[in-house]
Amino acid sequence: MVSSVVEKAINEQINNELSSSYAYLAMSAFCESQNFHGCARWFRIQSQEEYGHGMKLFDFLLRRGGTVKLDAISEPTAKFKTIPTVFDQMLKQEMEVSKQIDQLYELAFKEKAFAAMVELQWFLTEQVEEEKTARELVAKFNMAHDDAALLIDLDRELGGRAADAT
Ligand code: FEO
Repeated sequence: MVSSVVEKAINEQINNELSSSYAYLAMSAFCESQNFHGCARWFRIQSQEEYGHGMKLFDFLLRRGGTVKLDAISEPTAKFKTIPTVFDQMLKQEMEVSKQIDQLYELAFKEKAFAAMVELQWFLTEQVEEEKTARELVAKFNMAHDDAALLIDLDRELGGRAADAT
């Protein structure tokens, strides 16, 4: 069984992950509107990954006999100054999610929710990768700056992202 305090926190994180999914979907639409089809594909897959993260917690909570409570998802930012600023926003978002996962892990520890701690270890590892990827992309877009040829190359590279089954 899962305590009510852990249940509430996991429900909040389900909402955070689904909000991330929604935010990346908006980023994908923006990239598409700017004819950066590779970036659009990349963010669409990222959005699917975040949905998967939300569902991982959703399934965990149900397996532990908890109650899933789905809250409203707020409207994501849909307009950005440039394509590189979309990636800046992505890094900020991932750093925020890392903080949320850390806090959730700390709560699970305090509550002696050992099964939740094991489940959350996957998320801790995932966030290390997500932040690393975001930082690398921010660096690449900073280097490309407004060099059209480099931006087109980057767009092509990101368009090669394989769908993830996470
Ligand atoms: Fe599920 Fe990228 O945080």
